[in-house]
Amino acid sequence: MAFPTAWLDELYAKNEIVSVISSYVELKPKGRKLWACCPLHGEKTPSFSVSPDKQLFYCFGCHAGGTVVQFIMDMERLTYPEAIRYLADRVGMEMPHEVNDREMQLLRAHKNRLYEANKAAARFYFECFLDPERGKPGREYAQKRGLSKEIIQRFGIGYAPEGWDNLKNHLTAKGFTNKELLDAGLLVHNENKHTDYDAYRGRMIFPILGTNGQVLGFGARVLNNDKPKYINTGDTPIYNKRNNLYGLYLHKNEKLSDLVMVEGYMDVIGLYKTGVTNAVASLGTALTQQQARLLKRYVSTVYIAYDGDAAGQNATVRGLDILSAEGLEVRVITFPDNLDPDEYVQVYGKDGFDRLKENALSLNEFKVRSMANGVDLNDENARERFAVKACAFVAGLLPIEQERYYKIIAQMTGYSVEALEAQGARSGGIVLRDSESKFLRGGIRRRIDTMEDPRFLTERTLLAACVRDPSALRLAIREGADRLIQNEALSALLTEMQKDPAFSLTQYVGALEQKDAETVSALLQEENSMQNPERAAADCIRRLREAEGQQDIESLQKRLTDPGLTPEEKAELLKKITDQIKAKK
Ligand code: UTP
Ligand code: MN
Repeated sequence: MAFPTAWLDELYAKNEIVSVISSYVELKPKGRKLWACCPLHGEKTPSFSVSPDKQLFYCFGCHAGGTVVQFIMDMERLTYPEAIRYLADRVGMEMPHEVNDREMQLLRAHKNRLYEANKAAARFYFECFLDPERGKPGREYAQKRGLSKEIIQRFGIGYAPEGWDNLKNHLTAKGFTNKELLDAGLLVHNENKHTDYDAYRGRMIFPILGTNGQVLGFGARVLNNDKPKYINTGDTPIYNKRNNLYGLYLHKNEKLSDLVMVEGYMDVIGLYKTGVTNAVASLGTALTQQQARLLKRYVSTVYIAYDGDAAGQNATVRGLDILSAEGLEVRVITFPDNLDPDEYVQVYGKDGFDRLKENALSLNEFKVRSMANGVDLNDENARERFAVKACAFVAGLLPIEQERYYKIIAQMTGYSVEALEAQGARSGGIVLRDSESKFLRGGIRRRIDTMEDPRFLTERTLLAACVRDPSALRLAIREGADRLIQNEALSALLTEMQKDPAFSLTQYVGALEQKDAETVSALLQEENSMQNPERAAADCIRRLREAEGQQDIESLQKRLTDPGLTPEEKAELLKKITDQIKAKK
């Protein structure tokens, strides 16, 4: 998303990084920087630094770093455009494309009206619930489901009384138009009678809040066994169920180690009631990529706890790939006897749930086991077919993982591990689906990996010198350093600085993807130690050249081992190697 440069300049200037971050943590000056305990990860000694000169932050502990915008993205768990809007709102700036765009302004105003209407509706349903007369059926049902006053309040649960126009009259009196109420999904239009009537009647109301704290929509449950059990807000200008997770807003400002993914409203609430407060619901639909990305801003591990019935199990298999493709660590909790999470904790309590969680299956074990769903393992032919399929799957996993899964298949089928391994080897391993291989990469990937490579460190020091001192930059350009740098983020930075005399590091970092922003912000690490940037740059360039030379020598030496070389070729290679080694001295 591109914002005008001048507008961004103003945004950065008005959202001075120290003042923004100071509203989250107390910053203490030391050297050229300010320090605090990192608000993005738990710690006791301060490794979070802010550079007022550069308007960047960097944490030596969790390696998060970047501009004030990236800080807000991490801290408030927002996307880039959301964080920009957040900071614009903070200082009262209009979004650039909205300044002159009347249509955008109208749309935004309309959306605000829908938020207002939903908020007023949620209040109305809550008051109806408490109303001695009108709320009685709702309160009785709540009692039946064991919903305490605290839970009702925490989740804002309400009751929509019987009748066609209770809400309509209430909100019309507050000045909302029928169009607004229809657009929010609160009213439904009847073609034949040319009237609009309340969408929810005689139902428990579960407001759906977004992570922005606004009421986006509602779920409404019947009090008996009528169908449909739930009516939910459909797509509206402010709500799309694919982009949201029920219950997530409760955790906006919490540090969580993991989240539990369930199917329904009552699962989130039932778990919460027994003390499992970190569940969120996909609301009965298959997980979407947007939801996976949302989860990733909160946690790195997700426990899937779908209903024990077949529908739940099928939804689980689909959900796994979406989550793992986004790099989330996935574990699967399975419930006995077709119970759903809400029912399970009513019987076994929080302890029981915690035990299930401890024993949650890895993604691969779950996949192996679900291959046997509906298969009669006592039937020899069926057992064989299952084993062939499962072994082919296992053969495609990392070698170190395989043994464990062959053992599981052995235990399920009674075949020996040796026979299963042989079967797997014969199948050659099915090719990992793209999402699965991405999961493996995601699981193994750590931010620090690249940072420990000595070559990378040298490249980074060089760039730190260039950022610090124009004469170091000039030296680097003169010496053609751009050809020596292998790290893509750093090499792009140098190219950019070389191109643009008015280069602004803050703006540049602000436009980068998270990973690259962190790499570049890590330059702040080098600041203190550098007395003479120009000399440091020269030193780094020399080291990079040497490393390059060493790589050449190594590749020549490798070629020397080729048995097909003629004596002439061998002699030529040896001469080249000697020349290179001499040139180094
Ligand atoms: P469940 O039937 O498991 O509902 O459907 P639940 O949340 O456990 O509710 P209780 O315990 O029966 O009261 C899971 C989710 O699927 C969606 C809802 O979001 C529900 O929470 N659903 C289900 C609907 O949208 N409509 C329906 O008719 C049924
Ligand atoms: Mn249920």
